[in-house]
Amino acid sequence: MNVAKWIDVTTEKLYSLDHFVVPQHYERDIESILIPHGIIMDRVEKLARQIVADIPDVEEPSLVVCCVLKGGHQFFADLVNQLKKLQTSSGRSIQLSLEFLKVKSYHNDTSTKEVKFSVTNNELMYYKGKNLLIVEDIIDTGRTMEKILERLSEYEPASVKVTSLLIKKTSHSNGYIPDYVGFAIPDAFVVGYALDYNEHFRDLDHIAVISEHGKQAYAL
Ligand code: HPA
Ligand code: MG
Repeated sequence: MNVAKWIDVTTEKLYSLDHFVVPQHYERDIESILIPHGIIMDRVEKLARQIVADIPDVEEPSLVVCCVLKGGHQFFADLVNQLKKLQTSSGRSIQLSLEFLKVKSYHNDTSTKEVKFSVTNNELMYYKGKNLLIVEDIIDTGRTMEKILERLSEYEPASVKVTSLLIKKTSHSNGYIPDYVGFAIPDAFVVGYALDYNEHFRDLDHIAVISEHGKQAYAL
């Protein structure tokens, strides 16, 4: 059976806010819920299994898990919790080290040309010869990940894999597809589960579509 690489989320199946718990301060700012928190958690558990199944069963398996901040932090935290519980096929646990890359490329709901990094060359030297797993919240145009991969390759890691919780189905995509994807989503601006709109909504557990009211209330 040919199993799709991700769950295809469509706008035909949106959940009403009335059916879930949403912080009162965001009630007017989101249109509907696209992916409830419980489904995200179940999907993260499965992605962790797939990631571990692909790790070579060597004597001392190890992985450097790189969180792309800030949006990736919740997915990263939940994914690492799952990875810690898992073992390779011959029963070896995987030594994890955790790294953080801070990247910024959005203004309101628009991707900017420039991708700003705040990580030093000294920190990146550590990646040489390591097996990296980059953890991102969303692939939209694909440009940010392209820049990250370009920059990291200079530091000669042994291997680089990428997982993104979301991939957006947009005509602005450069065609980049990560190794492990949670959900493919429609071309709408989404927030929650650490994804933000000008730093707001990171404290919402579900992934939701922002409303016009929300866009205006938190515009810069
Ligand atoms: N929401 C939040 N951050 C993003 C998005 C989005 O839809 N696309 C790219 N970064
Ligand atoms: Mg991001």
